[in-house]
Amino acid sequence: MRDAFGRQIDYIRLSVTDRCNLRCTYCMAEDMQFLPRRDLLTFEEIEALARHLVARGVRRIRLTGGEPLVRKGIMDLVGRLARLRSEGLEELTLTTNGTRLPDMAQDLYDAGVRRINVSLDTLDRERFAQLTRRDEFDRVISGIEAARAAGLAIRINAVAMRGLNDDELPALLGWCSERGLDLGLIEAMPLGEVSLDRQSTHLPLDEVRAKIERSFTLVPSLHRTGGPARYFDVADTGTRLGLITPLSDNFCAGCNRIRIGATGTVYGCLGHDQKVELRDIIRAGGEEALDAALDRLLAGKPLRHAFDVDQREPALARHMSVTGG
Ligand code: GTP
Ligand code: 5AD
Ligand code: SF4
Repeated sequence: MRDAFGRQIDYIRLSVTDRCNLRCTYCMAEDMQFLPRRDLLTFEEIEALARHLVARGVRRIRLTGGEPLVRKGIMDLVGRLARLRSEGLEELTLTTNGTRLPDMAQDLYDAGVRRINVSLDTLDRERFAQLTRRDEFDRVISGIEAARAAGLAIRINAVAMRGLNDDELPALLGWCSERGLDLGLIEAMPLGEVSLDRQSTHLPLDEVRAKIERSFTLVPSLHRTGGPARYFDVADTGTRLGLITPLSDNFCAGCNRIRIGATGTVYGCLGHDQKVELRDIIRAGGEEALDAALDRLLAGKPLRHAFDVDQREPALARHMSVTGG
């Protein structure tokens, strides 16, 4: 699959639910209205769509949410998708808040998942409760331990926010390195109404990198995971730091992805509302109609997002949890 700018699309982000058991202040409102469960694609429908996409050249699928591991029966879907490796899928990964990993990490590994990203913005329990509005810090830490024990490669994801967690980001890198984990730092993007003051907390990652370099030697790395992160090797630790800079250093020229929402809406870009609705087409079972809709999406896939540090209103009404980033 190629878009109108010649970019090859071989990576799908698949949001299996918009629900979550946390309420991170940069992601959701406390009183989020979630999609009705009856509108969700079934696992059979997701599998059929994924199979179709793999036949069209998709090589990586990342499950997201909301929190993907709160969808009932999720391991059944993981198993179904993992089996698409015999049809050309190269990697099935997952981005999770970690709270369900104590029970599910081993099952994920056994199903064939080898790499996960776990969100953790702070190592301070109180701060975690403030940032996520839930008291689940200990479960996340146990979840990360369970994932390590199961043999999963892990990148910790932290959204970097001035005044909220910037003081502890070098320590977080140290904590990750001691455990053999990579760290991905992320600039917050303006999706949906949330309580976070995005302008005052905006933190360009160049600034964070300079601070980290007072304690660690960072060596630019050729390592790529197929996503927007630019990586550095953290000298002497064997781990990496990835920087995801949607606001301060645009990466859209290398975009390789589209994103599927839990109800079968497919979005060409995280930062735009350009989309096609696939649920009824999947339910009708027409492969040609599916191809035509996907081609329409690819033809209209925007060149880049237009997130801007100075904008007062969110760039999009859609919350991050609808597409999982
Ligand atoms: P890897 O496969 O490990 O490279 O993962 P990833 O970085 O693509 O995925 P992850 O779910 O960990 O997302 C990390 C951050 O990158 C989140 O804040 C996502 O919203 C953001 N992100 C991922 N893909 C895109 C994209 O295409 N555009 C923008 N603007 N942000 C993205
Ligand atoms: N901007 C940037 N990253 C975000 N995430 C959630 N909301 C935002 C946002 N507004 C992160 C989560 C998770 C990943 C999927 O996206 O922390 O690690
Ligand atoms: Fe849940 Fe992830 Fe959003 Fe936090 S960022 S509320 S963990 S979906």
